[in-house]
Parts: sequence; structure tokens; C-alpha cells
Amino acid sequence: MEPAGQAPPGGAATVEVTASVESTASVEVTAPGGPGVIVSDVWRFFGSFTALGGMSFTAPYGQVTALVGPNGAGKTTLLLILASLLKPHRGQALVAGCDPTVDPAGVRAATGWMPDAFGVYDQLTVREYLRFFGQAYKLDRSTVAARVTELLDLVHLTEFIDQPVHVLSRGQKQRLALTRALVHRPRVLLLDEPASGLDPRSRVELRDILRGLAAQGAAVLVSSHILTELEEIADRVVFVSSGRTVGEYAMADLRAQAKRAYRVRALDPDVLSRALRDRGIAHSTVNGGVELAELTEEQAAQTLAGLVAAGVPVVGLPARRTPLRVPHVLRAGIDADHQPGAHGADHQR
Ligand SMILES: Nc1ncnc2c1ncn2[C@@H]1O[C@H](COP(=O)(O)OP(=O)(O)OP(=O)(O)O)[C@@H](O)[C@H]1O
Ligand SMILES: [Mg+2]
Repeated sequence: MEPAGQAPPGGAATVEVTASVESTASVEVTAPGGPGVIVSDVWRFFGSFTALGGMSFTAPYGQVTALVGPNGAGKTTLLLILASLLKPHRGQALVAGCDPTVDPAGVRAATGWMPDAFGVYDQLTVREYLRFFGQAYKLDRSTVAARVTELLDLVHLTEFIDQPVHVLSRGQKQRLALTRALVHRPRVLLLDEPASGLDPRSRVELRDILRGLAAQGAAVLVSSHILTELEEIADRVVFVSSGRTVGEYAMADLRAQAKRAYRVRALDPDVLSRALRDRGIAHSTVNGGVELAELTEEQAAQTLAGLVAAGVPVVGLPARRTPLRVPHVLRAGIDADHQPGAHGADHQR
């Protein structure tokens, strides 16, 4: 579903052109006040079906906000509204201070939009594709040429510059779609499923690009149906389900609350086992150490402090890499069959 995703952002005449380019993915941030995105009780119907039933949240400048929910939760519908490509039926959204229903040109000038599906541009080369979007934003020729070079370098697609877009793989097309969103240095980024289907290296690069943009002050809003996909990218996560916001968390808090298995290693395994037994800490012996039952970060810190205080020569307490899960309190509000991160395949990184 992408009604107008292929259309160039026609109303971008007011975008500011930067002649000198210092950082490849930099943004034009003029210290705007308030959050980059405000969603306030937004409703959208398709016939009698309620796709959005009162969604509310904010995406601050300087942070990456993840919009996480199962298929059909309303993520794309909401992002289309923010990108001024679909009208809400109730409620209000503000993007870079502009209401998409009142000032779509203002929204498009300030916003980089990456749809979940790549448009059909089979006849264009990679260079022409990016040039097309640069010109749609009214960037001058030399700025467009410089941006094309820099952005293709950023996403490692320079070798395809004169190739037709259709020769790119899915993941390469996705990286190209990201450059399209960045071409005019927007201060708000709306990215629909940007990490889906990317290989691990590309995902790390996406993380670095998005974190870099947020560090420069941009408000970055990214969607996914997989929490773990955005765990290392986002500062905040907004959970959505059935068209409603069901929870908003700082990613650090989610991580701190999450229980993970820890593996303890000590110079003397017998001393370690005895100390754990004495403290009634459940554990099992595994190859190369002892595995503790799942603990929060705080519990792990307390356990480590207790072992060290008791003279156990601990040499490491690494957490086993386990996917971040939807908080228990929210699970009732999220379709059990579609809990983000609930499927084995979702956990692959
Ligand atoms: N144009 C449309 N006409 C009718 N129903 C629609 C339309 N667009 C979306 N919907 C419905 O609205 C709901 C939300 O769809 P949306 O695409 O926003 O979900 P999503 O959270 O992006 O899902 P996914 O993770 O699969 O991308 C779905 O039930 C969908 O069928
Ligand atoms: Mg979607």
C-alpha cells in the first residue's frame, strides 16, 4: 500500500540549499522547538474499518524513535499521514511544526520519506533516480551532483551509478531509497521498515547513518514489526497495535527491564559454584563456565558485586545475546500471534 509513494515531493520549493557539504548524511537543523513529530489522537478509517483508532505519541529531535507493532497495526497508514500522502479523519499531526493537512509543502520540505515499497523506476539509472529527487526538491545542479556522489558513497552503491535501477538487489534498492530520503538534508525522517531485509553489515551501516543523523539533531521515526531489528538503532520505542498506541519506552529502560541469561566465568569454577549454591542462586554448569537463570541488568550487577565481595575470582559475566521482547504488560494488547520478536525468524540478526 503506497498510494503516492512514487510521486516526487512536489511542494519542496522552500527547501534550503546548502552549497558546501561537510558530512555526507548531514541535516539542516535550525534548532526548532518542540518534538519533530507530534501525533495527537489520530484516526483513519477505510470504509467501515478503523485502521487508526486514536494514535498518539511524539518523536523528539535528536533521537531515533521506533514505531513497533505487528502487521496491520497501522504503522504505514500513520507514516503516510505524516508524509502528507494520506488524510487523517480525526486528530492532528505536526511534522517539523507543520500540519500535513494544512501545509503539505512545509512538511515535504522538512521531511525525508522512505516508503516500505520501492517504486518502479526501471528506466532510470541510479544517478538519474537520485537526481530526479534532488531536482524535485529544487536543489541546484551542482548541489544535486555533489549529493549523488556523497550519498551513493555512503550506502556503497557508487559502482551502480550508471546502472539501471532494476539491476539492484532488494537490499540495494532499499539503500538507494534511503539516499532519496536524505537528498535534501531533512530535519525529520520518516522511514517505513528501513531495516527489513537488510544483511547484517547493511543493518549496522543503517544504524550508524541514523544515529549520526539523530546526533546532528534530526528527528528520526522508523517503523518495524520486529523489535530486535531496531534495538540498536532506536533511543525510544512506541508500541502500536490495532491502530492504537499501547506503550512508549526509552530503549535503555526496556533493556534494563529485560531478563537475560548471564554466563559467569571464574578462575576457580569450584569456588564459583559453591558461592552460588551458598547464595541460593539458580545456575547450571555449561561448557566454559556457569550459566545463571535469567536476570535483569540490576540483578546481574548485584550478583556480580556479591560474588566479588565473597572473594570469588570472577573473570567475566557476559549476557547471552537474547532478543529484546515486548514488555509483558503490553502483550495482552498485542495480537499474540504477531508479537514483535515472538517468532524464531524474527530473532535472526
Ligand atoms: N487503502 C486501504 N484500504 C483498506 N484498508 C486498508 C488500506 N490501507 C491499509 N488498510 C488496512 O489498515 C490496517 C493497517 O494497515 P497498515 O499498512 O498501516 O499496517 P502496518 O502496521 O504498516 O502493517 P505491516 O507491518 O504489514 O506493514 C490493515 O488492516 C490494512 O488492511
Ligand atoms: Mg507497513
